[in-house]
Amino acid sequence: MNPEPITLTVDLGERSYPIYIGQGLIDQPELYRRHIPGRQVLVVTNETVGPLYLERVKAALEGFQVGVVELPDGEQYKTLEVLNRIFDELLRLRFDRRCTLLALGGGVVGDMTGFAAACYQRGVNFVQVPTTLLAQVDSSVGGKTGVNHPLGKNMIGAFHQPLCVLADTDTLNTLPERELSAGLAEVIKYGLINDPDFFAWLEDHMAALRARDPEALAYAIERSCADKAAVVAADEREAGQRALLNLGHTFGHAIETGMGYGAWLHGEGVGAGMCMAADLSERLGWLGTPERERVERLTAAAGLPVKPPAEIDSGRFLELMAVDKKVMDGQLRLVLLKGLGAAVVTAEAPLEALKATLDG
Ligand SMILES: NC(=O)c1ccc[n+]([C@@H]2O[C@H](COP(=O)([O-])OP(=O)(O)OC[C@H]3O[C@@H](n4cnc5c(N)ncnc54)[C@H](O)[C@@H]3O)[C@@H](O)[C@H]2O)c1
Ligand SMILES: [Zn+2]
Repeated sequence: MNPEPITLTVDLGERSYPIYIGQGLIDQPELYRRHIPGRQVLVVTNETVGPLYLERVKAALEGFQVGVVELPDGEQYKTLEVLNRIFDELLRLRFDRRCTLLALGGGVVGDMTGFAAACYQRGVNFVQVPTTLLAQVDSSVGGKTGVNHPLGKNMIGAFHQPLCVLADTDTLNTLPERELSAGLAEVIKYGLINDPDFFAWLEDHMAALRARDPEALAYAIERSCADKAAVVAADEREAGQRALLNLGHTFGHAIETGMGYGAWLHGEGVGAGMCMAADLSERLGWLGTPERERVERLTAAAGLPVKPPAEIDSGRFLELMAVDKKVMDGQLRLVLLKGLGAAVVTAEAPLEALKATLDG
């Protein structure tokens, strides 16, 4: 028998589900059997993750009727056209309403598989096996699924909660260094939003996390998911509170778009974006210099950029950020810091201070 992994429950009433965190989880038939109700499982993965982990997952799914879809790797394939390959296979296999879609991969595979599960026969079961740190700490909580449209990222989607999430820390051993750092940006974010003790813990354990120490990783994943789950549980469909999760993201998205998609990873934009939020907060007198420096030091220790790219000046930043602004009913709302672990949503930042931050 395997020891019980760390288990965290995302509390959403009848849609509550467990997140299991630990080593070697993808190999444990018992975990799949406990949560998958029917006999039919379609594993959706991609051409990078499939060769690494698919055979092991299939072995653990012994006794189920298993189908596989291997998608091309990359955000550019997160489209309705590519999504159709999942439906094609489900229909070809004649999978019925009791089937389960299992996402094996990072956030792209997770978002697409979850959306396919939300749509197929008006909704079937969904299990997540996230294999990037970002997917383990971010997309595995909250139930957001979807694909991109040529005119906007994640614009076509649905809320669809999984039956369970298996976050196997061993799968992170094959993750490229840059992707690991990108995931750490979201981890730091949770500490900054409302968990100062976790922020301090991260300052002490960043080296262990980057060395992929399984215990440190499991703790960071658990704490991150718990922090996100608390925010999501208070605000499942994103009315207010949940906006705090965008800390660093308004700046980060502008950097991602401004530099051309793919040049900066999402997490790298968020890393610099959090440092910019700290910088602006200091300019407003909300955050002390030592605190701002702690944010920069931790972000740098995670292997992330702490400054906006020189290529984007404040004028261009404001243009890029106006896109976010339109979405948010005409006012530029930013998530800033009134302390480490005390994020607030505000529309108060004066333009002059904002420009100074944007110019780095
Ligand atoms: N649903 C949500 O709440 C939510 C939250 C955050 C992000 N997202 C979405 O997630 C996506 C980003 O996710 P991501 O950062 O995981 O990117 P990703 O899925 O593109 O994965 C990053 C890269 O790592 C590879 N990879 C994945 N696991 C690996 C492993 N164990 N070993 C080696 N390589 C591996 C992937 O093939 C890919 O090349 C975006 O599309 C974003 O919109 C969704
Ligand atoms: Zn993010």
